[in-house]
Amino acid sequence: MIIFKSINKLNKEVNFKASIGFVPTMGSLHKGHISLIKSSKKNCEKTLVSIFVNPSQFNKRNDLKNYPRNLDKDIKILKKIKVDYLLTPRVKDIYKNKKSTKIKLNNKDKIMCALHRPGHFEGVLAVINQFLINLRPKYIFFGEKDYQQLLLIKKFLKNKFKTKVLSCSTVRDKNNLALSSRNILLNNKDIKKSSFIANLLIKFKKRIQKNISNKKELNNIINKINNIKKIKVEYLEIRNKNNLSKNYKKNNFKIFLAYYNKKVRLIDNY
Ligand code: PAF
Repeated sequence: MIIFKSINKLNKEVNFKASIGFVPTMGSLHKGHISLIKSSKKNCEKTLVSIFVNPSQFNKRNDLKNYPRNLDKDIKILKKIKVDYLLTPRVKDIYKNKKSTKIKLNNKDKIMCALHRPGHFEGVLAVINQFLINLRPKYIFFGEKDYQQLLLIKKFLKNKFKTKVLSCSTVRDKNNLALSSRNILLNNKDIKKSSFIANLLIKFKKRIQKNISNKKELNNIINKINNIKKIKVEYLEIRNKNNLSKNYKKNNFKIFLAYYNKKVRLIDNY
């Protein structure tokens, strides 16, 4: 694996005429990331992974400070699964000026995480924009755990870049907890609570799929989750999985959840 600390160096040495798969990450890699990398290795000649904890997508300074970082361990994982290139850029390498740090979001997209984490997706789109202005991968890979992010990025890239978005399903542990870099910040008891919530919502989804009128249980479910010690729901919403509108049928919806487990903010969708 060749490790590049700067985009310019990478650009000089990597031939983007080959089909390159790009997996942008913020590190602390887990099996969710590995599934994206495996998909890239299957679909592309070469695979490029980036590890960059993107400051512009954090709306709280403490969240950025506490975001888990494990570069040495990540490098070992990437070498083991034979990734071709790793990019670990510095902030000033990505953002050359203030203007490049933010992209505007449509008002109608300001729902769920976009509403509760102002500036978050603007920062995500900004970093992806900077990457794709400089690099020309054939495919870019994202996980469905960050479903709202996935749809926003797809829309943003559509008419702007040739790079195609490919996505992979959420990877869950044996108790149905979605893998996330933030899970490192939880102890066993916290993890049990989060698995309980995941199973509750998986069952809720099945009940709605059987009979759409069961969606009226939503507020009860929110209360049930909020009654768990040190758990606080930020939002729990049922939306159309294609356009995130509130217009949905029993075969085209997803349930979206963001909540705090102690101080750790977690998201999932079912
Ligand atoms: O999903 C993430 O880890 C980040 O939002 C991303 C896409 C790598 C951008 O920093």
